[in-house]
Amino acid sequence: MCGIVGYIGQRDAYDIVIKGLQRLEYRGYDSAGIAMYDGMNLNICKTKGKVSDLEKKAKNSNTVFGKVGIGHTRWATHGEPNDQNSHPHFSNSGRLAIIHNGIIENYDAIKILLQNRGFRFHSDTDTEVLVNLIEDVLNNEDVKLGKAVQIALNQVVGAYAIAVFDKEKPNEIVVARLGSPLAIGVGEDEFFIASDASPFIEYTNSAIYLEEGEMGVIRLGRKPRIRKIQDDKLVDPYIQELQLSIDQIEKGGYEHFMLKEIYEQPTAIRDTFRGRMLVDEGLIRMAGIDDNIQKFLNVNRIIIAACGTSWHAGLVAEYIFEDIARIPVEVEYASEFRYRNPVINSNDLLIVISQSGETADTMAAIKLAKENNAFVFGVCNVVGSSISRETNGGAYTHAGPEIGVASTKAFTTQITVLSLIALKLGRAKGTIDNSHFHMYLNEMATIPGKIERVLKENNHIEQVAKSIKDAKNCLYLGRGYNFPVALEGALKLKEISYIHAEGYPAAEMKHGPIALIDEEMPVVVIATRKGHYQKVVSNIQEIKSRKGRIIAIVSEGDTTVKELAEHVIEVPETIEALTPLLTTIPLQLLSYHIAVMLGKNVDQPRNLAKSVTVE
Ligand code: M6R
Repeated sequence: MCGIVGYIGQRDAYDIVIKGLQRLEYRGYDSAGIAMYDGMNLNICKTKGKVSDLEKKAKNSNTVFGKVGIGHTRWATHGEPNDQNSHPHFSNSGRLAIIHNGIIENYDAIKILLQNRGFRFHSDTDTEVLVNLIEDVLNNEDVKLGKAVQIALNQVVGAYAIAVFDKEKPNEIVVARLGSPLAIGVGEDEFFIASDASPFIEYTNSAIYLEEGEMGVIRLGRKPRIRKIQDDKLVDPYIQELQLSIDQIEKGGYEHFMLKEIYEQPTAIRDTFRGRMLVDEGLIRMAGIDDNIQKFLNVNRIIIAACGTSWHAGLVAEYIFEDIARIPVEVEYASEFRYRNPVINSNDLLIVISQSGETADTMAAIKLAKENNAFVFGVCNVVGSSISRETNGGAYTHAGPEIGVASTKAFTTQITVLSLIALKLGRAKGTIDNSHFHMYLNEMATIPGKIERVLKENNHIEQVAKSIKDAKNCLYLGRGYNFPVALEGALKLKEISYIHAEGYPAAEMKHGPIALIDEEMPVVVIATRKGHYQKVVSNIQEIKSRKGRIIAIVSEGDTTVKELAEHVIEVPETIEALTPLLTTIPLQLLSYHIAVMLGKNVDQPRNLAKSVTVE
């Protein structure tokens, strides 16, 4: 979704803002723009397309000058992606410029009101309405910019992270947040504004994260003044030291972030274990669970709500929670859950899973569960994200920044955290005995090393990718724990290569999808030895007899499937419940290579946003 960047200080704002926008490209966008104040004029340059297109356009303009500036990458919601609708937007007088991430729901009514007062609009956006509403307040009331922004925001319904610049007050930028993230980087006599810390981490690691419903006036020479938008209450800003490092947000020699993140999985999982899985002591320590253990032990059922890849991790968790902790689990798309009037009460536990911690539908699921007095637990990657703040307890995945739009290490670390929780609860409830618990811990500890072995198959997987890259459709099949992996494999292929792919439980094939199979159709089957192996082999034979092309993920040393398949990719043996952590890896690499061979934009696939902060 949209990304926002701003700078005020002693350096050239243009370079900082452009580089910042590049760092936010991963969020997904279709146009970009900047506004720079050169000491006299407020200059705007914006364009449909990429930040590189913006740079070309800005090169010969005044927008490259100034010590204060704002920039934006837009993911279109209201109005098609074009130059006009790109941000920043000016107010009618040209005095104010705004950048906005979110949606103003009642913009139509406000627009009519402003039109009746003589305002004219040059775009189809809700954002242009907001900047003119602020100007209208300034025209009619004797208030400063900060107050005018506050009055205007109290009239709008919707979600926003905004930055507003007034050329009559060139020493300050006003920011606000409700429903979309906004961080303020605090430097020596300079401030940065951004949707996340990546645009400013190379300049400062001190940051203030605005909380929901807060706004701030950022003025050079003093501490940012933060207050509540609704009741004007002043808030003492908490300046935190960020752990993020520049290496984590750069490609580090890899061609794409996605590939880097696939390769980071062994380290990411070790980081997820760190301080939690104490193999020698036979213990799992997780503060978020320990602090709420009675809640977990007394729940009637667990509802898991998430979207996309995180939803697939939820499906894997359903198997492991029911298997090991014997707690009934329901897994819901957050977008459906929020609107279908579900039965929830105080004996239910909602677990939400989200890499970004900002997904709008998942946020809405939390709100609904809280209104019904359910306890809400979050599994998030981004520290300090909205979801991590809104939940009653939680566990971070510690995967590190995930920049490729296609989620990879977030998925495997989510499964890791959820497996640790299931094991911990199983032990506490006595549904798993001590020796099995130890066996699991020991086996979990081997997973990062086993993933390293799968990664060594990269060249072979690239060859397999070459043989199926021209397919128009693809089926992914798995059973039990590997059914969600099949769904995830299909999603990975769809989103970055734009090849149509479907995931199915292997046995469901007979109930419909088998009709699709012919010699053109690659069928990727997960057929590891642990987990309904014989049944899956029968499914493979069914495909074979209809001339389908079989690509099988098998356990090391398998010979049976090798005879039937066009290609096999081997993964090491492990306990069935942990196989998703291994079988997922070749599917990630397969999609990656296919997308690269097809010349697709792997890290920023068309139409997609890294975190979906609107409905
Ligand atoms: O940040 P979240 O985990 O809440 O995001 C959920 C989905 O939008 C996300 O997993 C999406 O499906 C990815 N592009 C999948 O690779």
